Amino acid sequence: MSRRRLLYMGVSGFAGALAVAVAKDRLLIYPSQAVYNLKKDFKVVGQSSLKKRAAAKGLIYGAAFGRDFLASDKKLQASTVRECGILVPENELKWDALRPTPDKFDFTRSDWLAAFARTHKMLFRGHTLVWYQQLPQWFKEVVNRQNAEKFLVEHITTVTKRYAGRMHSWDVVNEAIEPDDGQQAGLRQSPWLQFLGADYIELAYRVAAQADPKAMLVYNENALEYSGYKEEVKRTAVLKLLERLKSRGTPIHALGIQSHLVAQEGALNAKKLRSFLSDVASLGLKILITELDVSDQKLPSNPAVRDRIVAGIYEDYLSVVLDEKAVIAVLNWGLSDRHTWLSTFTPRSDGAPVRPLPLDSSFKPKLAWNAIARAFDQAPKR
Ligand code: G3I
Repeated sequence: MSRRRLLYMGVSGFAGALAVAVAKDRLLIYPSQAVYNLKKDFKVVGQSSLKKRAAAKGLIYGAAFGRDFLASDKKLQASTVRECGILVPENELKWDALRPTPDKFDFTRSDWLAAFARTHKMLFRGHTLVWYQQLPQWFKEVVNRQNAEKFLVEHITTVTKRYAGRMHSWDVVNEAIEPDDGQQAGLRQSPWLQFLGADYIELAYRVAAQADPKAMLVYNENALEYSGYKEEVKRTAVLKLLERLKSRGTPIHALGIQSHLVAQEGALNAKKLRSFLSDVASLGLKILITELDVSDQKLPSNPAVRDRIVAGIYEDYLSVVLDEKAVIAVLNWGLSDRHTWLSTFTPRSDGAPVRPLPLDSSFKPKLAWNAIARAFDQAPKR
């Protein structure tokens, strides 16, 4: 078997996928039949940070951080300041973090992150003013059809005004499309839709624009990246929503594509994704990659192999999206493997720590860092 190495890369992933490495260092993984090139060279020229490489092309690079995690480690803070030109709170600007009671706001934790960004001359972005998740415990007992508009307007006005003039951009509405819910225009069934009807979305953007005329107002959505039937339907529904909002003169400026990628999810259809980005840009909207990470849950256990596959996915994805000049920013959802939502959301069946982000758990750059750096270096200048 001189030219063919049958290497059991270990059982991994809930499907108990068995990976087979064959000659010429290509990795074929069942059952997705994804073929990964294990020999790709992720060489990077020079020592510049991701922030600097992005800025050289007119792009912004950054990541999401939790207040406790960032406050806990000076080394992480140093890596953050070196690599990131923008910071977004992972949870601190959501309803459940800001609204301990119906008539009280608590900005302690979000203010800490805003101050960290300001101290280190980083841009600050807000996530998210209107979402169906992470609503405070009291919400379901207190908010109803009669008072929902009052709560929505008061929340957006109070929170947006607090950071007015200092906020690069806001995810005003997050994940409002879910075709499987069977609602009009593919809208997600949520308390907001239930109490206020489809117009809650336009209302949210108009109130946010009034409270902070300087902030870029973004519609943020997940599951737009792959070429499955569901994603195709979702991209169409999102485009129709954006067209409707623009046609009514709604103050909306950009689409946020979350970009939670999954190794072995099946291939990206670069042509379909690129065409979607062009369609969004043709509406006069900018595009932000807002929550980028690559789940390695279903990959073989060998960390070196996982890092290579994850890096390849980063570079392939970013080379497609950065070709669209309306894309102005790339943010990871976390910077280091030491803290990622994927540890709890998609843990590995072998119990090994997940490795979805550019820095490892000791804040050292991984091949994913190289891949992102290479994508910025190869991107057209804005
Ligand atoms: O604050 C409580 C704490 O008091 C409690 O002790 C602890 C244990 O239960 O839970 C803490 O709340 C957790 C919260 O994160 C803050 O850490 C919630 O349980 C946990 O579910 C929540 O997860 C967040 C998730 O959104 C909620 O859906 C993740 O950290 C966050 O990364 C994730 O981010 C979302 C984006 O906002 C939108 N796009 C998808 C992305 C991933 O789901």
